[in-house]
Amino acid sequence: MPGLKLGVLGSGKGSNFRAIADAIARGEINAEIAIVLSDVEDAGILALARERGIRAEFIAPGRFKTRMEPEAEGRMAALLREAGCQLIVLAGYMRMIKAPLLDAFPGRIINIHPSLLPAFPGLEAWKQALAAGVTRTGCTVHYVDAGMDTGAIIAQAEVPILPGDSAEALHARIQVEEHRLYPAVLKRLIGQGIVK
Ligand code: GRF
Repeated sequence: MPGLKLGVLGSGKGSNFRAIADAIARGEINAEIAIVLSDVEDAGILALARERGIRAEFIAPGRFKTRMEPEAEGRMAALLREAGCQLIVLAGYMRMIKAPLLDAFPGRIINIHPSLLPAFPGLEAWKQALAAGVTRTGCTVHYVDAGMDTGAIIAQAEVPILPGDSAEALHARIQVEEHRLYPAVLKRLIGQGIVK
């Protein structure tokens, strides 16, 4: 059976992209990354994708900070469609998703967030968890809707917060779990035919 075609969107260094691409290369996920898009021209995720021979494009975001200009998001949707993407995987993509993408891929956009949602939606969730003084946090893979980290939860992994943790140490510990959880969720969703 041919692999499910994924489109990956990211704004940062791309460590989740790498974990997913490595799991695909090892034959653990029946998928193929068809295209990687970023709103940040020098994002590490674009370089990582190109190193692997995966098409990778920067899309200029326009004048807003928290979302793409509708026309720019429309271009993203068109590129993802032309590339034949069946599932859109947000991997460190730092903008809200709006109608142009949501309507193009209804129920077919997933995200990973560095907290146990619904706790600590939004930016730098690990810092929010530290400031709140909780003893455990983690990461969540969820479907994307029009809200900020509000879509239906697919899976979570817990991470302890240790005495004296710095923000950097905690985020690094969460990322170790992210790199296990995201490929495992994709394997399950695709393997069980939940997305096809
Ligand atoms: C991760 O912590 C992810 O949960 C959040 O952004 C970060 C992306 O890291 N949404 P990377 O670019 O995958 O390394």
